[in-house]
Amino acid sequence: MGGIMPFHMTHPIAVFDSGLGGLTVLRALRARLPQEDFFYFADTRFLPYGDRPESFLKERGVLIARALEQRGAKALVIACNTATAAAAEAIRAAIKLPVVALEPGVKPAVALSKSGVIGVLATTRTLHSERFQRLVGRHADGYRVIAQACPGLAEAIEQTGADSPQVAALLDGFVAPLAAAGADVVVLGCTHYPLVAEAIAARLPAGVKLLDTGEPVARQLDRLLMAENLLGGGLGRLTVATSGAPATVIATVNRLWGKHLAVEHWEP
Ligand code: DGL
Repeated sequence: MGGIMPFHMTHPIAVFDSGLGGLTVLRALRARLPQEDFFYFADTRFLPYGDRPESFLKERGVLIARALEQRGAKALVIACNTATAAAAEAIRAAIKLPVVALEPGVKPAVALSKSGVIGVLATTRTLHSERFQRLVGRHADGYRVIAQACPGLAEAIEQTGADSPQVAALLDGFVAPLAAAGADVVVLGCTHYPLVAEAIAARLPAGVKLLDTGEPVARQLDRLLMAENLLGGGLGRLTVATSGAPATVIATVNRLWGKHLAVEHWEP
């Protein structure tokens, strides 16, 4: 081995979400790629993305992606279904970095479903996007897809905690239609929702499968870094930043991550 490592290989992988939901994706990325450095950006000041217009999300997504590229990231993971739905194409066109975007796991859900009914929990913006309609058209032909928007859920998880009565009341309303329709696979189409996976499962009949996209995204990132010759070179470091006030998110970050992490302010 030896020799000088290419400069870009040693740079961090940037990961962003509207808030802290993307930490569920980050966990899978770190588990698969422990040697990489990560820069996680929570755009907390603009949470929730799910109720914002597509034009806003496109503009904001491109701004963030360009700033992360300039900051020296070697790859970008859009750890947010809503930002992907609205802005993935614009982001890919705006930067030179390899980009991994995630979308609700409709395809694997169809492969698993025996009842022919699948549920999708996601934000209003994701479910109304053309990208989601295309995804369903392409992979779920002949299946019944119950697409349940969950307005307020991502904010409630961040602001009141995953176990709060507010979250419980929202979940009662959002999960009941899926159970009533006989869904046997439920797609967690927002990166915040794995944080309440147990509470969702408790509202569904036993045996219903829940799907999140952390692991497939980690596999995809691994493949992409390998193909681009960008794999390795880090030290397993993690930096967490927010566009909001670090003091307002730090307790939640630590609770979700399970150990103390410093959070800095960063303005894209
Ligand atoms: N975590 C985001 C997603 O995956 C959205 C949450 C929000 O509405 O900001 O869609």
